[in-house]
Amino acid sequence: MSVVNLQRPSEATPRSAEQTELHPELNRAHVRFIGVGKTYDGQQGPVNALQGIDLAIQRGEVFGIIGRSGAGKSSLIRTINRLEQPSAGRVLIDQVDIGEFDENRLVELRRRIGMIFQHFNLMSAKTVWQNVELPLKVAGVPKLQREQKVRELLELVGLRDKHKAYPAQLSGGQKQRVGIARALVHDPAILLCDEATSALDPETTQSILGLLREINQRLGLTIVLITHEMAVIREICDRVVVLEHGRVVEQGPVWQVFGEPRHEVSRTLLAPLQHALPAELQERLQAWPESSDSALVLRLQLTGGVAEEPDLAALFSALGGRVRLLQGAVERIQGHALGQLLLAVSGSSLGVEELRLRAGRWAQRVEVLGYVA
Ligand SMILES: Nc1ncnc2c1ncn2[C@@H]1O[C@H](COP(=O)(O)OP(=O)(O)OP(=O)(O)O)[C@@H](O)[C@H]1O
Ligand SMILES: [Mg+2]
Repeated sequence: MSVVNLQRPSEATPRSAEQTELHPELNRAHVRFIGVGKTYDGQQGPVNALQGIDLAIQRGEVFGIIGRSGAGKSSLIRTINRLEQPSAGRVLIDQVDIGEFDENRLVELRRRIGMIFQHFNLMSAKTVWQNVELPLKVAGVPKLQREQKVRELLELVGLRDKHKAYPAQLSGGQKQRVGIARALVHDPAILLCDEATSALDPETTQSILGLLREINQRLGLTIVLITHEMAVIREICDRVVVLEHGRVVEQGPVWQVFGEPRHEVSRTLLAPLQHALPAELQERLQAWPESSDSALVLRLQLTGGVAEEPDLAALFSALGGRVRLLQGAVERIQGHALGQLLLAVSGSSLGVEELRLRAGRWAQRVEVLGYVA
């Protein structure tokens, strides 16, 4: 793999010295947004698509962008290869401000940043081979080198046998594989994916995610990925940012944001992954114990600080009395056990506060939901 260095010696000095001194990791960031804003001229006046975006994407990470429709995700990702020119702020790649690039350097930049799309954007009159070869032809790469590159990439994406096929003869997953091969022809350092799996069924999505992960690990590419499928983020991203009305409302490692979403938008987006209280139980829930054998309902939230899955026998015996598991699921994200346990505790000699405290040894958060008879 060729190592891309867009940096020129004179541009190596970071501009906001104060910030980079406080946060040395910013100096190593692959992509940095500093106060990025984007305003479009909409039909009903200006549209503020992005406002004051400050973000750093590290080299080699898979970085996810989520948010409601219209939040500014595509606008943001498109500033990385300057398909969108920010109206304010700066985008740095390898510490170099790409806002100052002239046409030639912009062409060079775009070759070093691959992009794949929801609808693949393949040329229907060209074969798989020709689709992948085209950008190399445009760049004036000699025939022998082109052939070697196309062969190597079709091998990588698992389409060696399909090189003579036309896009119409391919499945969605195969089309996206062509899109990925085409995006990689110039050995990019960054791959941008805007809803790249949104048109695919779950099984094909899995295989494309597997391929993206392989590319990320084998070629060391930084991947920036937009998706409305939270499972995709959980599957392959290292960190995630949540946008709302063009602003960053939350960001962090996936296990953290998914384990304990802080912003209302994040909670809404992640709701499909959360286990809601069963409706039947919700109806029976009371604020106060009806009788002496009412059970206290506790929700234990495991958000990843605890390394291991909960030892249920130990937990139950610490609570005393009779403990029933009403609902529960634990999964692992980036090595962190995340999940939720709904317990009904009855006949314990311990008070509510003591029960809450004890349960807290196994969970990051314990909520008292109420009582059931
Ligand atoms: N070329 C444009 N001209 C005018 N307004 C635009 C343009 N492109 C985007 N917008 C507006 O900017 C805002 C952000 O759009 P953007 O496409 O970045 O959102 P998004 O988060 O990618 O949404 P989606 O999930 O629907 O793809 C929206 O209000 C959109 O209508
Ligand atoms: Mg979009």
